[in-house]
Amino acid sequence: MSKFKVFITRPVREEILTKIAEECEVDMWHTSAILPPIAERIPPLDGLMTYGHEPVSPEMIATAPNLKAISVVGVGYDHVHVEACRERGIAVGHTPGVLSDTTADMTMALLLAAARNIVPAYNHVQVDKQWHYYDPNILWGTDVHHSTLGIVGMGRIGHAVAKRARAFDMRVLYYKRERRPDWEQELGVEYVTLENLLEASDFVTLHVPLTEETTHLISTAELALMKKTAILVNIARGPVVDHYALYEALKQGQIAGAAVDVTEPEPINTDHPLLDLENVIIAPHLGSATVQTRMKMMTMAMENLLAGLKGEQLPYGVLQPNFPQ
Ligand code: DGY
Repeated sequence: MSKFKVFITRPVREEILTKIAEECEVDMWHTSAILPPIAERIPPLDGLMTYGHEPVSPEMIATAPNLKAISVVGVGYDHVHVEACRERGIAVGHTPGVLSDTTADMTMALLLAAARNIVPAYNHVQVDKQWHYYDPNILWGTDVHHSTLGIVGMGRIGHAVAKRARAFDMRVLYYKRERRPDWEQELGVEYVTLENLLEASDFVTLHVPLTEETTHLISTAELALMKKTAILVNIARGPVVDHYALYEALKQGQIAGAAVDVTEPEPINTDHPLLDLENVIIAPHLGSATVQTRMKMMTMAMENLLAGLKGEQLPYGVLQPNFPQ
């Protein structure tokens, strides 16, 4: 029997590749260099594993008559046109759950780094070599403990962030489409409107999926509601925040700072004005980037891919094979 034809958009670990190659003829983008447009690789495929966020459009899907499965190495699948997959009965898998704690850790890392001036401290000592004596008056930050955190989008990751925040004695407000009284009970978090959350929080963290509704959810009007001392953390998707509005708010002192793990576009253009500001930290989409979590994600994505190719139930499915049209 001939093997399934599969394309993997970024290098996966050798052991994962070996297992996939037992059942598939694999084309993999082997370097971390910029991936060329993937459209031309799609027509002969039975399966596609996206290990970045390269858009998979209905037009691309239409060029691949044999495509059976798309496996996303990640929880967010906003880059894959799920409706087009549904119409064709193409299975779509992702890797939920396994990265929630890791992404919550990164959220706290960004929040703490912004609050306590970790990047300026690093620059002062190691880059500029300016630490000549103990100066009690430099790099004052702001307290995280006993402050108020506003969580926008209280899913698995938001819940994990709330747990960490409660350990810092933070008051935690949350905004979500559906209220979670069980989590209010469990964690002592308070449900509020988005407006109230923005007005009352010292730190705002974003954890919503990217949809039409959440695109530019945070723009000029929302930033204007925030405290001038507040810090915004975006670890969701870049377009959830209007970056030009964010730039203006940071430059004008409308908010004190921001720490973002995701940008619009991604990677951010090297001449983007945000890069020139000192009150913003930008990380290159590292939310789930730990050895342990990335291995788990690759393993789950491999299991999804192989199941989908064989027309079997995906263990972590967004769409199962032959989904009714
Ligand atoms: C996710 O899991 O959605 C992360 O953004 C990595 O893709």
